[in-house]
Amino acid sequence: MKAFVLHGGFGLDNVKEVDLPVPSPGPGQVLIQIQAVSLNSRDMGVIDGFYEPNRTEPLIPVSDGVGTIIALGDGAAKFQVGERVSGIFTQSWVSGEPAQENWVSTLGSPLDGMLAEYVVLPEEGLVRIPEHLTNEEAATLACAGVTAWHAIAVEGQVKAGDVVVVQGTGGVSLFALQFAKLLGARVIITSSSDEKLERARALGADYGINYRTNPEWDQAVLAYTQGRGADHIVDLGGASTLNRSISALKVGGQVSIVGILSGAAVEDFAIVPAIIRKARLQAINVGSREMFESMNRAIAQHALHPVIDRTFPFARSLDAFRYLSQGSAFGKISIVF
Ligand SMILES: NC(=O)c1ccc[n+]([C@@H]2O[C@H](COP(=O)([O-])OP(=O)(O)OC[C@H]3O[C@@H](n4cnc5c(N)ncnc54)[C@H](OP(=O)(O)O)[C@@H]3O)[C@@H](O)[C@H]2O)c1
Repeated sequence: MKAFVLHGGFGLDNVKEVDLPVPSPGPGQVLIQIQAVSLNSRDMGVIDGFYEPNRTEPLIPVSDGVGTIIALGDGAAKFQVGERVSGIFTQSWVSGEPAQENWVSTLGSPLDGMLAEYVVLPEEGLVRIPEHLTNEEAATLACAGVTAWHAIAVEGQVKAGDVVVVQGTGGVSLFALQFAKLLGARVIITSSSDEKLERARALGADYGINYRTNPEWDQAVLAYTQGRGADHIVDLGGASTLNRSISALKVGGQVSIVGILSGAAVEDFAIVPAIIRKARLQAINVGSREMFESMNRAIAQHALHPVIDRTFPFARSLDAFRYLSQGSAFGKISIVF
């Protein structure tokens, strides 16, 4: 089978297409013929050595992928041959709170990922995908979709009438926009581009703020909410946005700490504004199988379609990574096999 493998050092130059034997499913496992994957900035971080610089190699990268089950190992009875499934980002996190040992079971590092024609996974590490989705749409769900669901629906408990702020127009942000809208919230989205803000409005965003021409976007949120502030902010910028996220929050509101698009350390974190707002700061780390399954039910019920910016063929996977590195996608980047 064909697969892309990271071997011999960090960087995209060390990701090569290779031929590997088709793996066999062991007890409780299934063999999946992969049909589509999607990319996340973490995948590039793994390749560049930003995440887990001590990881073992060779490594098949990419956490998110879907495919069709083509063989069952001994005792595997949860799925049938022919069903379409997605891998769960954190393979061993089934439900409830995660434990430290769950973090060693994430796909695409330290475990081999999905950028291969065939993958073997334990049946416990899979979910069925909503029937109305194409393979490339379904492949966007495991990381960005579940992360947004966890922030908005699970920890955020967003409800009708809430004001939710999402940042930028990448994968997590647009999922958070879609989920907040289906729960009845009013959504403010920020972007560096007026054209992307228009596209976000077409997806249901109620108000857009260009954070490049209006860097004090927190003040714009306060003005839009008549000084009350937002109920919930999905912080994706990290270093340059966290203080402003707290500033734009209502008293008792929640910031979901999710992203590090502008850097992973806030040097001048302002504690007092957080105390004054009695802010809840909730870090999010993707999510459990239970969250993935509840999100899929909501996606099916509302016939929601993920937003895909661009799709590449498997043979051009390296071009897909180069496009991801530009950091300008509106929604997700998929690869089809
Ligand atoms: N904690 C977790 O479990 C988890 C899970 C998934 C992702 N993440 C993190 O969440 C972040 C977003 O992930 P993603 O996959 O959605 O990324 P993405 O699709 O690559 O997002 C790209 C978009 O981010 C926006 N952006 C860039 N810098 C920004 C800034 N300073 N402020 C606001 N927006 C900015 C840009 O939107 P515009 O062009 O519209 O400005 C760009 O199009 C990443 O840092 C990722 O590592 C964390």
